[in-house]
Amino acid sequence: MSLSPLSLRPVYVCDYALASFWTFDFQTFDFPTFDFRLSTSRLSTLDFRLPDFRLISSMKKILITGAAGFIGYHLSQRLLKDGYRICGIDNLNDYYDPTLKQARLDHLQLSTFDRSTSSTTPRQAFRLLDLQDFDGLTKLLTEIQPDLVINLAAQAGVRYSLEHPRAYIQGNIDGFFNILEASKQQGVQNFIYASSSSVYGNNAKSPFAETDRVDYPVSLYAATKKSNELIAHTYSHLYQMTTVGLRFFTVYGPWGRPDMAYYFFTKAILAGEPIRLFNQGLNLRDYTYIDDIVESIARMIPTMGALKPDSDFDQYQATRSPFHHIFNIGGSQPVPVLEFVQTLEDVLGKKACKELVDFQPGDVFSTQADTQALESFINFKPGISLKEGLAEFVKWYRSYYE
Ligand SMILES: NC(=O)c1ccc[n+]([C@@H]2O[C@H](COP(=O)([O-])OP(=O)(O)OC[C@H]3O[C@@H](n4cnc5c(N)ncnc54)[C@H](O)[C@@H]3O)[C@@H](O)[C@H]2O)c1
Repeated sequence: MSLSPLSLRPVYVCDYALASFWTFDFQTFDFPTFDFRLSTSRLSTLDFRLPDFRLISSMKKILITGAAGFIGYHLSQRLLKDGYRICGIDNLNDYYDPTLKQARLDHLQLSTFDRSTSSTTPRQAFRLLDLQDFDGLTKLLTEIQPDLVINLAAQAGVRYSLEHPRAYIQGNIDGFFNILEASKQQGVQNFIYASSSSVYGNNAKSPFAETDRVDYPVSLYAATKKSNELIAHTYSHLYQMTTVGLRFFTVYGPWGRPDMAYYFFTKAILAGEPIRLFNQGLNLRDYTYIDDIVESIARMIPTMGALKPDSDFDQYQATRSPFHHIFNIGGSQPVPVLEFVQTLEDVLGKKACKELVDFQPGDVFSTQADTQALESFINFKPGISLKEGLAEFVKWYRSYYE
């Protein structure tokens, strides 16, 4: 499969939209209000300060990479609702069905921003752009001057990395470096990026905590995500950028990714086709419903000021940069894949034809998130049940395909 950008309809690419994005007066926005009842004792152990409320309203313009992707779509939708100004980029590659990516963009209604709408001020814009295009990224960042960059664009998937390793180096190493370096050069102070639970590899200690060592990745995908964390740390140390790596645990939900098991299991079960369960279906997975991911990030953005150290802190003396942070975001209720399939069967009202097969190289046996750091920081714990989440996914799946 080619990973080069598709020459799809060149909609969404609109200089006017970007110009208005840049000049918009943010004073008119109502910013979201959150409950900041944080545990100060826990915060102090994690080197956090309580939110600096002067900083909350300073996060106004946000660049989201991978905006046409599963998480990028949901996050863009939520942040637009919360009153932020969003600029999305994506290369719309064909790793999975690009018409789904296009449909997500259509649903976000980004296409309304063309010259015919010049009398209105858009709050969102989209540009077809590849993370490998450093000059393009620099130009865009110069135009929009975001307060925050959220990097979700990446070559995802563990199994694909066995056959297409170069795609991971290009997208997740070169691409990650490009967006981080371009952000630094343009003076962006806040940078959130997607890491992954896969960095924990086959660690025996469970649940996985951010303080655990993550030195033994078992897939190239995991190695690139761990590398992202190391590179981000370096930028925090050298340039005092606040960087936040989010280790997502198996995210699922409506508008999801067709390459993920829950998605293609649903397709196969409905079609009466067999599904293959690796390691006899005994692998444990911590599934996280998309709304829990989005809620976590939405709460994190206005509180990012709290992640900065006191001004008298000598960062060059620190072993770990006080500007670099990692959070797990996971449902914390792992289930064996067999049980997951049973729940899916219940929701679909149809039995699966299961093929129990051997362990797959690159896979891990078990994932479970320790989310105490997240809870302490944003006063929120992901909690949507598998049954509830899968019901929402199946509802969407049926309406999208049937
Ligand atoms: N979904 C999960 O379960 C999960 C778990 C752990 C980590 N993550 C990470 O979260 C992020 C978002 O994941 P997702 O599930 O939404 O995946 P996704 O594939 O749906 O979204 C990624 C988007 O990035 C775009 N993209 C890829 N390479 C690009 C490049 N070089 N330039 C520009 N755009 C590019 C793709 O076209 C896609 O639309 C990824 O970094 C992924 O590794 C996801």
